[in-house]
Amino acid sequence: MADNKKALLPEGTKVPVHIGIIMDGNGRWAKKRMLPRKLGHREGAQTFRTITRHAKLLGVRYVTVYAFSTENWRRPVDEVEALMDLFEKYLDEVNDFVDEHIRVCFIGDRSMLRRSLRDKMESVEKSSEHFDSMTLLIAINYGGRDEVVHAAKKLAERVKKGELSPEDIDEKALNDSLYTAELAGDIAPDVDLIIRPSGEQRLSNFMIWQAAYAEYYFTNILWPDFKPADLEAAIIEYSDRNRRFGGV
Ligand code: IPE
Ligand code: IPE
Ligand code: MG
Repeated sequence: MADNKKALLPEGTKVPVHIGIIMDGNGRWAKKRMLPRKLGHREGAQTFRTITRHAKLLGVRYVTVYAFSTENWRRPVDEVEALMDLFEKYLDEVNDFVDEHIRVCFIGDRSMLRRSLRDKMESVEKSSEHFDSMTLLIAINYGGRDEVVHAAKKLAERVKKGELSPEDIDEKALNDSLYTAELAGDIAPDVDLIIRPSGEQRLSNFMIWQAAYAEYYFTNILWPDFKPADLEAAIIEYSDRNRRFGGV
């Protein structure tokens, strides 16, 4: 394992603890081939599998992938349905994560998802909860603003119950109320590196709180074409950046 890592990344590369990936460009990938968009999503799901495994091999501890945003409901119903079907099909086949000892958790508002999908999400979370080689967070019906609103509501409930006083609401209290902190026994650290393929240079409501000091890596490659070597290139560039966190 250690030897593997050495062979893949230059000696001394600083590997980010937490990588966020905005898996974008599936539709354009399909369009270029005159295929329906849903085939782009299917191809993107394959890339997700390959890249997640590769991140683990490189020693990344947390990977968060943006699979469906709170804004993606604006898409045509048949595309939304195809995506939900794909998530379900994927979760049926998720045994490869079990083999890889990857813990899988979901972030986002589940209440709007179909029951059958929610059940599968819960079952995957349960069956992988003792794994610790890497934590994979899958963001489905996730929005950064929705997450902050959700955290504010949780804090307000605690104040109402008398468990917390308003003066005690600080950054830590808010952070500990986010979806990324609702993983039993674990709190995902701030995201270090955010990768967005497809040429767009925006967050699109992804991890707005956790990304306060993230580094960004943008590439024109469409997500279905994104290869393990592209992940390595992003990590090498990250490793060369000077993160000052406001200091000198
Ligand atoms: C990302 O690919 C997948 C989701 C948002 C679910 P897109 O579907 O956004 O692909 P483009 O941006 O249209 O190419
Ligand atoms: C962001 O991609 C959401 C996901 C990748 C799940 P979008 O394709 O929805 O983002 P915009 O609309 O280009 O900002
Ligand atoms: Mg897109």
